[in-house]
Amino acid sequence: MSTTSIDSLLHEERRFAPDPDFTARAVAGPELYARAADDRLGFWADQARELHWHTPFTQTLDWSNPPFARWFHDGELNVAYNCLDRHVEAGNGDRVAIHWEGEPGDTRTITYSELTAEVKRAANMLAGLGVGQGDRVAIYLPMIPEAVISMLAVARLGAIHSVIFGGFSAESIRARVEDADAKLVITADGGWRKGKVFPLKHAVDAALAAAETDVTSVVVVRRGENDVDWQHGRDVWWHEAMSESSEEHEAQGFDAENPLFILYTSGTTGRPKGILHTSGGYLTQAAFTHRSVFDLKPETDIYWCTADVGWVTGHSYMVYGPLANGATQVMYEGTPDTPHPGRWWEIIQKYGVTIFYTAPTAIRSFMKAGREIPLAYDLSSLRVLGSVGEPINPEAWVWYREIIGGGKTPIVDTWWQTETGAIMISALPGVTTTKPGSAQVPIPGISIDVLDEDGTHVGMEAGGLLVVTEPWPSMLRGIWGDPERFQETYWSKFGTKYFAGDGAHLDADGDVWLLGRVDDVMNVSGHRLSTMEIESALVSHPIVAEAAVVGASDDTTGQAVVAFVILRSKKAKSVSATEASQQLRAHVAEQIGAIARPREIFVVAELPKTRSGKIMRRLLRDVAEGREIGDTTTLTDSTVITVITDTMR
Ligand code: WT7
Repeated sequence: MSTTSIDSLLHEERRFAPDPDFTARAVAGPELYARAADDRLGFWADQARELHWHTPFTQTLDWSNPPFARWFHDGELNVAYNCLDRHVEAGNGDRVAIHWEGEPGDTRTITYSELTAEVKRAANMLAGLGVGQGDRVAIYLPMIPEAVISMLAVARLGAIHSVIFGGFSAESIRARVEDADAKLVITADGGWRKGKVFPLKHAVDAALAAAETDVTSVVVVRRGENDVDWQHGRDVWWHEAMSESSEEHEAQGFDAENPLFILYTSGTTGRPKGILHTSGGYLTQAAFTHRSVFDLKPETDIYWCTADVGWVTGHSYMVYGPLANGATQVMYEGTPDTPHPGRWWEIIQKYGVTIFYTAPTAIRSFMKAGREIPLAYDLSSLRVLGSVGEPINPEAWVWYREIIGGGKTPIVDTWWQTETGAIMISALPGVTTTKPGSAQVPIPGISIDVLDEDGTHVGMEAGGLLVVTEPWPSMLRGIWGDPERFQETYWSKFGTKYFAGDGAHLDADGDVWLLGRVDDVMNVSGHRLSTMEIESALVSHPIVAEAAVVGASDDTTGQAVVAFVILRSKKAKSVSATEASQQLRAHVAEQIGAIARPREIFVVAELPKTRSGKIMRRLLRDVAEGREIGDTTTLTDSTVITVITDTMR
């Protein structure tokens, strides 16, 4: 974030006190903070006891070997049982779990009884294909109910899912399937997006053809009805295998620390990290935060989180949190503007959505498109609005509250990460007086701080690095197959305090204002991308000699990918700068996925470097954001910048 925007953020004076009627009926109250302050571990043990335990735990936290935490480790539970069977057994089987809306307008309504039966059947199907406790199952699906069913079926067996976002390329699937050594892949023929079927299975076929893998089966859901190639003996239609599987399946208890999922996310190096989450602590914090941050009343609320299941928000706040709480939710397959720009608001009106959770980038693009679009729909059912994925600028926050929330709904700006598993910093609706643009306070039971480089608390009205000072239930348990990288990335800077990689400012009240990443990680539309990963994709193209990537600020997407490349004079002889830029944008999409495709590529003759050879990214960012070039005294060749700006013009 630039200095000017930090200044305007910190001069944000608007305050929104909770409505007394809301407070009177709120799920959360100040007593949660008091209880957690008094006995933090006791507080989390209380929350864990809201779940069903096959074997109750007697130990809350084992932190004897930091940074490797164990929560509730002598207890046993089944995550899927907690999300399904127990609601049916409590007499809520007829409650709708998922109102699913396909992009072309087809719909499915699935009750808790039906979802439980489907997951039991899917668990039997997967067990029949050889999946057992600890096996890895890769899931590459569109936003269809089978994505949720697959995840829960894997969890029910004590196996480990690795969901791969449907926008990722074959090459990204290959890397993930290999790293996790997956045994089975679940995919679909295709899914609907922007009015068209986009194929999925062919990417899995290409990934597996290129991979060193032991994948024995590929289960294929029929959704797009597009043609697919078929590998006999390996490929299985979901509907055929499901119809042959029994609906009877008894959930077994697994250790609280049994791994639940791996989710890959970008780090500062080129290789994505497989973030590992386990069962009891993860589900405890996902369920608690979903209930208290969104003020969930499962009997009456209709909840909708717009995140894709391929990101952590989809895991914690579309699958595990809401289902553990017995919530009724909407799941939508497609894009916000298909077939018309009011599609989201139409869905809110149709289902009477009461709690809505989305990302600042979406809010900003709706702001741009104009308030008349949402105002054409009845949004009066909404009573809580959430934001996640990147800092929300005060203007977008206020627009969200005024236009979408009718000037009355509390807004919860929730800060967390793939690594934290669940919400860490957020207002509680009905309790907190909110400040537009600030995530504000750690949730009860979470301890955070802002430190300077030396590890000293920065004090009020000062900025520094965000850390989590005490272990928390849904914390990552490691990086799959790489304990050293786990230590190095998060725990080498401040010892037993978790280094989040975000800059933060504390205001005079001690509230937290998040200022974006301090490392080489970009945030594009709330999606995490690594500069190194895109640079390696670029240099893997034969015409590229050298590449540097920066995140430039962007009105809609928060940040945008901007690349600077030096071409190989021989190989690139016959290509113009425009052609090169087109080829390279396509190449990045193919190597990583369309989300990583650079907004702009500048072909340059040199890259600005310090005397020690480090690329001066700050300078490149200035160029990418159209600013005057600052101090260049450390450049080895001060003519470089002229070259860059000249090439741009
Ligand atoms: C990074 C984590 C959490 C699920 C979605 C992203 C940024 C996330 C906020 C927020 C300011 C935020 C941080 C963080 N971020 N939420 N409310 N305010 N920044 O998960 O892909 O793991 O990315 O997203 O920079 O480190 P992720």
